[in-house]
Amino acid sequence: MSGLKEQIKSAKNLPQHVAIIMDGNGRWAKKKGFLRAIGHENGVDALRNVATAAAEVNIKYLTVYAFSSENWNRPPKEVKALMGLLVTHLRKELKTLKKNDIRLRAIGDASSLPKSAQKELAEVIDLTKDHKHMTLTLALSYGSREELARAARNLAREVAEGKRSVESIDEKVFEDALYTNFMPDPDLLIRTSNEFRISNYLLWQIAYSELYFTPKLWPDFGADDLYEAIADYLGRERRFGKTSEQLNTEVS
Ligand code: FPP
Repeated sequence: MSGLKEQIKSAKNLPQHVAIIMDGNGRWAKKKGFLRAIGHENGVDALRNVATAAAEVNIKYLTVYAFSSENWNRPPKEVKALMGLLVTHLRKELKTLKKNDIRLRAIGDASSLPKSAQKELAEVIDLTKDHKHMTLTLALSYGSREELARAARNLAREVAEGKRSVESIDEKVFEDALYTNFMPDPDLLIRTSNEFRISNYLLWQIAYSELYFTPKLWPDFGADDLYEAIADYLGRERRFGKTSEQLNTEVS
């Protein structure tokens, strides 16, 4: 086992939840003279490696941006290739999910996915529902603003139907109306490929997340890169609005 991996595994303040914006598949393919779809295929390999690596150091939640609501605007050929990858890989990856005791979940507007993808997704989610070691969540047809508007709509409907009062809507109730109500907020958000944007990803949930940006293109991002990001996170002081002195007093 690498020294870094061992160090992380025994760390006290390990992030419970790591979220990733997997960016750079297209540029990776272009650099190598391949079609963009080949970049996405290699992106799936990177995802498998990173999910396994995360499970090995006992990360409990890994949430990856696999397809945004805005990605529907890409050329139809690329959208088709991505949906094709989703369908072929979901079942194929069942072996990895079983071996590592990983539960699969999805967030986003599943109803907009092709029927074949909806079916595979529902089946793999069901087949892994009792897995306990880690939860891997795919953000699919996901957009944070859509998620927030949907939550507001659902709560407004409950008020209109007399099922709840306006005053009952607080942060906790709002959180429960989000797609992510089954997971804690991300402790660490990683974005690859030298882009410094959030791109409509988990806007509510990352209020206090530590951000980590790396120039690595997603297909080149591997276990060691994940461990470096976690090591960087472990060196940070999370203050949640308090002062450094307050935190030190709480610890001692
Ligand atoms: C960003 O790279 C990546 C995506 C839009 C898709 C990420 C998907 C995977 C890693 C594969 C797993 C997902 C499915 C659906 C099975 P980009 O194409 O924006 O790269 P670029 O910015 O270099 O063009």
